[in-house]
Amino acid sequence: MRLAAAKHQYEIKIGQGVLPDLGDEIRSCLPHTPRRVAVISNQKVLSLFGAQTLKSLRAAQYSVCPWLIGDGERYKTLGTVQKVIQFLSETGLERTDAVVALGGGVVGDVAGFAAATYLRGIPFLQVPTTLIAQIDSSVGGKTGVNLPHGKNLVGSFHQPYGVLIDTKTLTTLARRELVSGWCETIKQGAVGSKTLFKQTRDFLKTIKSAPDAFISPALERLIRSHCAFKAAIVIGDEREAPDRTDHLSRRVLNFGHTVGHALESLTEYRRFRHGEAVGYGMLVAGQMSSDLGLLATSELELLRDTVRLAGSLPDASNLDEDGIMRAILRDKKSVDGRVKWVLLERIGRARIVDGKDITPRLLRESIRHGLRKKF
Ligand SMILES: NC(=O)c1ccc[n+]([C@@H]2O[C@H](COP(=O)([O-])OP(=O)(O)OC[C@H]3O[C@@H](n4cnc5c(N)ncnc54)[C@H](O)[C@@H]3O)[C@@H](O)[C@H]2O)c1
Ligand SMILES: [Zn+2]
Repeated sequence: MRLAAAKHQYEIKIGQGVLPDLGDEIRSCLPHTPRRVAVISNQKVLSLFGAQTLKSLRAAQYSVCPWLIGDGERYKTLGTVQKVIQFLSETGLERTDAVVALGGGVVGDVAGFAAATYLRGIPFLQVPTTLIAQIDSSVGGKTGVNLPHGKNLVGSFHQPYGVLIDTKTLTTLARRELVSGWCETIKQGAVGSKTLFKQTRDFLKTIKSAPDAFISPALERLIRSHCAFKAAIVIGDEREAPDRTDHLSRRVLNFGHTVGHALESLTEYRRFRHGEAVGYGMLVAGQMSSDLGLLATSELELLRDTVRLAGSLPDASNLDEDGIMRAILRDKKSVDGRVKWVLLERIGRARIVDGKDITPRLLRESIRHGLRKKF
């Protein structure tokens, strides 16, 4: 007997001023018109965009039920999900209703996970308001929360019914949140496509010399390219098959993340924004690729220069190398106790390398080079 799993396609809409039309956009994404829409957000995001979002949803005749979660990674917990689910249940949300995640990656991951499990799954839509959420976390259906033991250890794949991106929301984002997002865009280009890398680099150069050019059709095109890239990877490897090690596997999106996660956990998530830590992680992995003879020196220099263009990163030169190495081995991405390293053959093409081929000496040297004050 064979059973075809049900899948749905979804729309990613990108533009300036999507929020005021959210009600109609949502209607066009869903297979049936919901009666109630639960908007999950946080206080900061709701105070910025709540008025226009709720107005638009009410104008579309939905009964709108907002619920706020705490702001920050430390609220990405099962406890928060439980409260969201309790709220959905008390509000009487049915399987034909919908959950809308309005916010950054934390809101998206929590709201998505609640929607994945409440009534065994109800429709949800992503309305991402940070750069990381717009180019990465809102696409691909990974939802979940952290455990005291580590990040993203509990979760579910639950694809949204639509991703509605208003680029204007990025104007209120703090500088470090943007730097963090830019590092993730550099990552996507570095592992997947020289063209995407170049498009990202050109945009970073443009806004460096003309900051007012930030909210622009070029930004929309860039975000669209990144969503398309992420979507292509996800379609080819929806659930991140553990045995895949080819250059198109979902695992390549972890470039820079092995060391990045180690830096985050070693500094108890206080010193780095996630993407900033990934920025350093890419420099270490790039160095490692070059030391192994996989990546040309000129390509490593291009990677370094582009990370520099993303903006300044917090100092990492005083971190303990042994501590970083221990934290790397604790990373959940290791398989049979060995790390699968995502390295580069060139800008635009990743190569997955088994941890047994990386000597502790090479790792230590790469960490030392990658975390230098001036890179
Ligand atoms: N599901 C996935 O595939 C995936 C992929 C990448 C990252 N993630 C997750 O995403 C999270 C990181 O996402 P993030 O960087 O968006 O963090 P975040 O959600 O904590 O947002 C960062 C900060 O920006 C604020 N904010 C949001 N939108 C704003 C706006 N428009 N203007 C001003 N401030 C705004 C938030 O309140 C928060 O303080 C992590 O938990 C990470 O694990 C998930
Ligand atoms: Zn990341």
